[in-house]
Amino acid sequence: MSINHAQKKWNSRYATAEGKPRAAPVLRENRHLLPASGDALDLACGLGGNALLLAQAGLTVQAWDLSSVAIDALRLRTAAECLPVEAVVRDVDNQPPIPTSFDVIVVSYFLQRTLAPALCAALRPGGLLFYQTFVKNKVYQQGPTNPDFLLAENELLTLFAPLRLRVYHEIGALGDITQGLRNEALFVGQKAEKR
Ligand SMILES: C[S@@+](CC[C@H](N)C(=O)[O-])C[C@H]1O[C@@H](n2cnc3c(N)ncnc32)[C@H](O)[C@@H]1O
Repeated sequence: MSINHAQKKWNSRYATAEGKPRAAPVLRENRHLLPASGDALDLACGLGGNALLLAQAGLTVQAWDLSSVAIDALRLRTAAECLPVEAVVRDVDNQPPIPTSFDVIVVSYFLQRTLAPALCAALRPGGLLFYQTFVKNKVYQQGPTNPDFLLAENELLTLFAPLRLRVYHEIGALGDITQGLRNEALFVGQKAEKR
């Protein structure tokens, strides 16, 4: 899909979106791991649920997305709430974050495998990556069907192998499938501290 096509698709989806955006579970449930201050990036932020949580937690936030409709909506919200979020229309495939620029990066429901090395490089020493998206082996129908956007088993562990594993969740169809978050993998990794 071309960038223009993707932009149009997401703009039309966000044009009818309602309600306050929520942060992804990987961030909500592991919020206590965040540093008290620093620079954070919500990459492919959509309406910016992660960006809002990061700013409320005391971080200075960049929020990047292809969709101008989503970015305009996030700008209005952060201005109204006086939150330190800079929301920018940016194609992250062509303009990934620069090396050593963030203490925290959050990516939810967006998968561009070729960006993994740039995300590891963009973390500062001790920095944290929070990642969550859909897996191929779904237990129930929900989320994208294009396999390009679905994770293979343990794939986040491979993509982000240079980071120290801090949190991982991927339970497939194990046990009682009415319990637990099933269709998604959640990862928190940390870049090594400088020695
Ligand atoms: C499923 S949404 C997830 C949004 C948000 N992270 C969330 O959890 O609600 C995927 C997002 O990726 C954005 N996106 C797709 N391709 C992109 C690109 N090349 N650069 C920046 N954003 C992109 C879309 O505009 C859309 O907002």
